[in-house]
Amino acid sequence: MEKKKLNFAIIGCGRIGQRHTKHINNNGKLLAVCDIDYGKAKLLGEKYGAKTYKDIDELLKKETDIDVVSVCTPNGLHAEHTIKALRAGFHVLCEKPMCINVADCGQMIQEAEKANRRLFIVKQNRFNPPVAAVKKLIDENRLGQIYSVQLNCFWNRNSEYFLSSDWKGTKMLDGGTLYTQFSHFIDLLFYLIGDIKKAYAFADNFNHHGEIEFEDAGVVALKFYSGTLGTINFTINSFAKNMEGSLTIFAEKGTVKIGGQYLNELEYQSLDGFKIEGLPKGNPPNNYGQYVGSMSNHDKVYENVMDVLTNGGVIATNGFEGLKTVEIIDKIYTQIKNNNGDT
Ligand SMILES: NC(=O)c1ccc[n+]([C@@H]2O[C@H](COP(=O)([O-])OP(=O)(O)OC[C@H]3O[C@@H](n4cnc5c(N)ncnc54)[C@H](O)[C@@H]3O)[C@@H](O)[C@H]2O)c1
Repeated sequence: MEKKKLNFAIIGCGRIGQRHTKHINNNGKLLAVCDIDYGKAKLLGEKYGAKTYKDIDELLKKETDIDVVSVCTPNGLHAEHTIKALRAGFHVLCEKPMCINVADCGQMIQEAEKANRRLFIVKQNRFNPPVAAVKKLIDENRLGQIYSVQLNCFWNRNSEYFLSSDWKGTKMLDGGTLYTQFSHFIDLLFYLIGDIKKAYAFADNFNHHGEIEFEDAGVVALKFYSGTLGTINFTINSFAKNMEGSLTIFAEKGTVKIGGQYLNELEYQSLDGFKIEGLPKGNPPNNYGQYVGSMSNHDKVYENVMDVLTNGGVIATNGFEGLKTVEIIDKIYTQIKNNNGDT
């Protein structure tokens, strides 16, 4: 039987919006694109034979054949654009982070319920082969009690990265390095270990004065509801290039480290009577020329959207999980504000 094809629209035709198009084409049809920078919408629309819009409201009103709207605008606009698309009756795939405000996340979930539409959040690192393997270990209870976890986020984002963007580095539209650079990593703490009860944190801006309105490095101590202890050491000051994105788990029946630059390699394992073997080679990271991002797993994200909407599948990352990442980041930033007073 031929697979049902879905119709998509993209809001925000920047770096990640452009990457979405390829995967939309593999799974359905791109009917319309929208960007307030109309030149970008036109360029993308012409390439894929999609209608072009400058205004989201006009697109949502005119394009009644859409099934899914992919929200690829700056972080601070995700809530507004998602809610508009849901109210217009469409399913939504929202880029990470879900948004930068816990209350907005709650409203996005409620609007999806009201409209009886599905809300997907992009967290493509969950599909990294070593991440999937460690998740399986934990789900099969092969690690026993998890004692502690250490997350290292050592990336480089230089002046050019921020100065060439009109929203990155701003409090209102970006929100902070934990939202834009590291929300994937925080999501994995929730996904693998669980929800966080308490965070204690310090942060500062060492090397990006006049470029960003928040921290460029921070340290966090965590206590999970399960009793697990954790630390996060995050920075965008890794000299000249990304160095590491890693997560190490110390548990009753094993120690395991997912590493590489993008949580894409199984760097260490010492497990009680078990060995993770034969991991498939993952996708390469998203390369934006001037900088490198997370693993390019958007193919899997779109496969999941198709599976859910045409085959009764389960959403890989739903609105509740998207909210949890935002809530954890909010807990950390609240602590940073209390402790630093000046970030
Ligand atoms: N999943 C990932 O690995 C990944 C990677 C990169 C970016 N992202 C996320 O994707 C989003 C976009 O990031 P980017 O790097 O593509 O940024 P970008 O600046 O390259 O693109 C954003 C686009 O949105 C457009 N835009 C802004 N306001 C708009 C509005 N009101 N209506 C329509 N269009 C509007 C801008 O003109 C711009 O073209 C961010 O939320 C970011 O965190 C996710």
